[in-house]
Amino acid sequence: MKGLVAYHSKYGNGKIIAEAIGGGLAGADHTVTVIDVSKPVVGDFDFVVVGSPTRAGRMMGPVKRFIGRELEKESWKGKPFVAVGTGFKPEGTGKKTDQWGARSAEKVYEALEKAGLKPLMGPQKFFVSDMKGPLEEGEQQRAAELGLSAGKTLSEA
Ligand SMILES: Cc1cc2nc3c(=O)[nH]c(=O)nc-3n(C[C@H](O)[C@H](O)[C@H](O)COP(=O)(O)O)c2cc1C
Repeated sequence: MKGLVAYHSKYGNGKIIAEAIGGGLAGADHTVTVIDVSKPVVGDFDFVVVGSPTRAGRMMGPVKRFIGRELEKESWKGKPFVAVGTGFKPEGTGKKTDQWGARSAEKVYEALEKAGLKPLMGPQKFFVSDMKGPLEEGEQQRAAELGLSAGKTLSEA
C-alpha cells in the first residue's frame, strides 16, 4: 500500500519520530512518503500518519491547517489513519498541565475521525524529556516498531 506520513516539527523531535515510523512502515513493504505538513500532497495514498507537537494541550496550527486543506477531501474518507503526538509524559498528577501531556495525539485523532477517516489504532504518544527535547531514550526505536506493527496490520486488513 501507499502511505503518507505528514508531520510538523518545530525542534526536530517529531521529525525523528515521523521518519522512524516511515522506516517501520517501509519495513512492512509499504511505499512511504514522509513530508512536512507545509508541503503539498502529491499523488494518491491508501493510509496516512499525522504527527504534531503539543502546545498547551493542543496540536499545532500548521497540522490543523494541513488536515483542513488536505485530509478533509472526499478522497480520504474511510481511509485508515494513525494519529501521533509528541510532548511530555503525563505523570498522573491530575494537574491541568499534566493532562496536556502529549495530548496533540488525541487532538489529531479527533480531527481525523471528524474528517471521516478510520483509526487503525488509538492515539500514539512519544515523549520528550524537556520543553524542546531531546526525545526520551528509546523513543526513536519505539516509533520504528510502531511503524512496523502498523504496517503489518495494514497488510493483513
Ligand atoms: C510554548 C510551549 C508549550 C508547550 N506545551 C506543551 C503541552 O501542553 N504539553 C506537552 O506535552 N508538551 C508541551 N510542550 C512541549 C512540546 O510538546 C515539544 O516541544 C514538542 O513535542 C517537541 O517536538 P518538535 O521537536 O517536533 O517540535 C510545549 C512546548 C512549548 C515550546
